[in-house]
Amino acid sequence: MVNQGTQPLYGGKSTRRITTADLMLAKERGEKWPMITSYDAITAGIFDSAGYPVVLVGDSSAMVVYGFDSTIPVTVDDLLPLTAAVERGSSRAMVVADLPFGSYQESPQQALATSMRFLKEGNAHAVKIEGGAHMVPTVELLTKSGIPVMGHIGLTPQSVHQMGGYRVQGRGETAAQIIADAKALEAAGVFSIVLEVMPAKLAAQITKALRIPTIGIGAGSQTDAQVIVWQDLLGLTPGKPAKFVKQYADLHTVITAASSAWAKDVVSGAYPDQDHSYE
Ligand code: KIV
Repeated sequence: MVNQGTQPLYGGKSTRRITTADLMLAKERGEKWPMITSYDAITAGIFDSAGYPVVLVGDSSAMVVYGFDSTIPVTVDDLLPLTAAVERGSSRAMVVADLPFGSYQESPQQALATSMRFLKEGNAHAVKIEGGAHMVPTVELLTKSGIPVMGHIGLTPQSVHQMGGYRVQGRGETAAQIIADAKALEAAGVFSIVLEVMPAKLAAQITKALRIPTIGIGAGSQTDAQVIVWQDLLGLTPGKPAKFVKQYADLHTVITAASSAWAKDVVSGAYPDQDHSYE
């Protein structure tokens, strides 16, 4: 077995799954890494082969898979089959399952029961939950039960109604609370924390203060890792992207053009031609 500790996290070779220990070692080496969302076996296979060390089955699937206008409506039963598909499609990446709204906030016991379903039925290797210091008892119970937990603070989309929209968090006096949340989650046992949509300086300060990796999205360049929703990255999500999104492809245009070309060929009779027919 190749020792992952001697391999780069992104693109490194190994015959086993990436673990939380590998992520800690990368932080010690000062090595940055990418995390990407996936909701199906084919994209999971592509990102896994490309060398992504961590793939997130995000509750963003509420919007980019299920067509809701927020992450709130998506359920455990919606996300479990997507998680299982991503695990089947990958062989090296750690698969992190987002716990959906309403499946963990009631009590640590509810969070444990939900997480167990994601590990047993979805074959996830870790779970992600949103929230700061108030989630400490939940993180403690999950980690004591052997379940790696990724935290998520700053802009937490499941609280969009309480936050009054998708706004930058942690400007001014509220920065101190976000720093306190990050430290409390680390002390409770999370193995990494997503820092979403906050000033770059605040994310840099949190990253410096923690031993565990931080994963930024709209949080500047100084976090240990970056995460992105793949449809945003590759230009498939309709509408104006958020300020932090840099598109590396225009799949919306590519798919529209290719599917229209095929449809026209069907209408004209140009498809299927002899090359695509059986004798
Ligand atoms: O659901 C999701 O995709 C996420 C990431 C954006 C961090 O939570």
